[in-house]
Amino acid sequence: MSQPIPHGLPTQRDAGPFNPPRAITRLRETRPVSPMIFPDGHQGWIVTGFDAVREMLADTGFSSRQDLGVLHLPYETPGMPTFTEPAPQAPGLFIAMDPPDHTRLRRMLTGAFTLRRMRQLEERIVDITEHLLDEMARRRAPVDLVTEFALPLPSLVICEMLGVAYADRGNFQVNTARFLDKELPFDQQQAAFLELHGYLTELVTRKRAEPGEDLLSDLARHDALTIEELAGMAFLLLLAGHETTANMLGLGTFALLENPDQLAELHADHELLPGAVDELLRYLSIADIHYRYASADIELCGEQIAEGSTVLVSLLAANHDPRRFDDPDVLDIHRKARGHQTFGHGIHQCLGQQLARIELRAGFGGLIRRFPTLRLAIPAAEVRLKTNMQIYGVHELPVTWRETPQ
Ligand code: HEM
Repeated sequence: MSQPIPHGLPTQRDAGPFNPPRAITRLRETRPVSPMIFPDGHQGWIVTGFDAVREMLADTGFSSRQDLGVLHLPYETPGMPTFTEPAPQAPGLFIAMDPPDHTRLRRMLTGAFTLRRMRQLEERIVDITEHLLDEMARRRAPVDLVTEFALPLPSLVICEMLGVAYADRGNFQVNTARFLDKELPFDQQQAAFLELHGYLTELVTRKRAEPGEDLLSDLARHDALTIEELAGMAFLLLLAGHETTANMLGLGTFALLENPDQLAELHADHELLPGAVDELLRYLSIADIHYRYASADIELCGEQIAEGSTVLVSLLAANHDPRRFDDPDVLDIHRKARGHQTFGHGIHQCLGQQLARIELRAGFGGLIRRFPTLRLAIPAAEVRLKTNMQIYGVHELPVTWRETPQ
């Protein structure tokens, strides 16, 4: 049996930019539910096997309750208080709540995120995509794909859905990035949270007074929700709604450019796109690490987890488990990747997954069609990876293409 990891989670991608760190893969091979020691000295667990992750996420005995800081990882953030028991809940952040609070808040949103509602938005999402690609085509290459396309696309979509002014993106994009940066001191992360939260508190207060035709106004019409809850929900939706998909578009384009045969197939046959999107979601698993807190003594895949333990899951490790996917470290757009756990599992499974899929199909589809000669403008080894961030991706992706007469 392997020993506990002495120094927390390895973050460097020593097996290539798209694969789990080698130490994580070794753990999954030897002990898929494994003890680990956090830098503050307390022992917790890390779950890396596909079946073990699924079982753990389905078990509500593993609580999601966290204090504000838990959207950060305590073992990586200097100044973070140690977690020994659930801290008071931050209003509205239902990703960090258990039933019945979680159920009450999530239920208010499920109607707005059904597949049918998302399909109604598809045309608008395609319009936004094409408009951004028109603008990119007018620029002289090379351009940074993240700034020109990957970040604006989901930001524009979620702003329109929520009723947030896109002109205010400077505030929410910068503060989100600071909030998710594991290497920033805790107080700076919290300051970013508070600034964004303050902005959203003002916004939902205005919407409660004068509701409009948008999702936050619809929420503000629920008298049962306090302003603090509304602001927390707005924070969660705005953050999850732009940062995740943006990273998928940036990192996914990098992965496709590094797999030119797969890219050529996609270019030749757009019917392959939906399957390719799910394979990219599996392969990249950008929202990798999540954690829970054992609210009782629980046996998980033969290991005894004591009440009070912090338990991490690595969705990336699970999605690269060879017991579930053949040749998991290979990007294969023909495989049946649906069933991956990139959107989590159980009661917290991603609320925005249909929206994300539609944005990714529009985004990758449009990009491949409009820029068939797209390539990296710098060597692949120089692409800056977001190993410091809660959500993985690329910081920038300089790309170029052969200009064709319009
Ligand atoms: C939850 C991943 C896009 C909204 C989650 C969870 C994961 C995830 C893994 C579960 C967290 C947990 O169990 O603790 C992703 C990925 C995305 C994406 C990989 C894009 C590629 C979106 C979008 C939205 C969204 C576009 C839109 C607003 C949410 C919300 C939750 C959530 C509200 C909390 C659900 C709950 O606690 O019940 N997401 N997400 N996500 N996601 Fe996403």
